[in-house]
Amino acid sequence: MQRYPKDFLTTQDFSEEQLIEMIDLAIRMKKNKSRYAKALAGKKLAMIFEKSSTRTRVSFEAGMYELGGIAFFLSSRDIQLGRGEPIADTARVLSRYVDGIMIRTFGHDRVEELARHATIPVINGLSDWLHPCQAMADFQTIVEKKGRIRGIRFCYIGDGNNMAHALGLLSTRLGAHFACATPKGYEMDDRIVDMMKENAKVSGSKILLTNDPVEAVKGADVIYTDVWASMGQEEEAEKRLKDFSGFQVNKTLARYADEEYIFMHCLPAHRGEEVSSEVIDGAHSVVWDEAENRLHVQKAILYTLMRK
Ligand code: CP
Ligand code: NVA
Repeated sequence: MQRYPKDFLTTQDFSEEQLIEMIDLAIRMKKNKSRYAKALAGKKLAMIFEKSSTRTRVSFEAGMYELGGIAFFLSSRDIQLGRGEPIADTARVLSRYVDGIMIRTFGHDRVEELARHATIPVINGLSDWLHPCQAMADFQTIVEKKGRIRGIRFCYIGDGNNMAHALGLLSTRLGAHFACATPKGYEMDDRIVDMMKENAKVSGSKILLTNDPVEAVKGADVIYTDVWASMGQEEEAEKRLKDFSGFQVNKTLARYADEEYIFMHCLPAHRGEEVSSEVIDGAHSVVWDEAENRLHVQKAILYTLMRK
């Protein structure tokens, strides 16, 4: 297998084989926790948060502890980064203290700049452009629930945001078919779509991008949605509520999916907006297993990047 990259900024930097290896490792770690209890003994992870988090923060922190290491929570409100210290200087200094950095921030360029100046692995814990750790946990969940990835019909309904991007890239890298319905004006970034098309040439994935949720959801094995207003878009929330009408995942829409479809959401969710309570709290929903898998897949990512 080819060498793993230093950082985990986007799944695009990894081969299909490497991504599957990390997902398989996550499944093994979930089944046999004690075997990996000292896998990262003595290792330290710094976690920079410029946005809120429940799952990412706690799963990384718990994950490092379960591997025998430790994680430091650094809110940008409290560290000098929040007062204007350059990201490059932060990277240089943290590289002298710890063995890895996870960052959640706004512009994706900030993640890339941190990685460029850090001599240690950097993990993208969400940027405005991508949320790759979540997408990895999602595909671990798909393997567990559906037994395969290749040929799965994955459908994303809603905003063409960081989640849509990360899922579109990973689906097409791993050979799942990817259908995405967004309202007009909220389509996925063209650069991501180009990368998806390149991936699909190799993997054989089919891609459908539409403004019609019914068209996207037809025959779907997985229905996925995310919030209509992401972190940093709070002022647009009211306008978006109107623009996204007709894009709620509810029982009427889900009727077009495969009978055995699973419902997924990265969380936090807004019941009554992007998803109805009856769907997210219903029999097809796998959102709690999906959230749990953040822990396992991140342990696999941490182990892969930091074990040396
Ligand atoms: N899904 C996710 O990343 O959740 P948090 O924002 O709570 O970390
Ligand atoms: N799109 C959402 C994902 C949260 C996990 C956001 O960026 O706020």
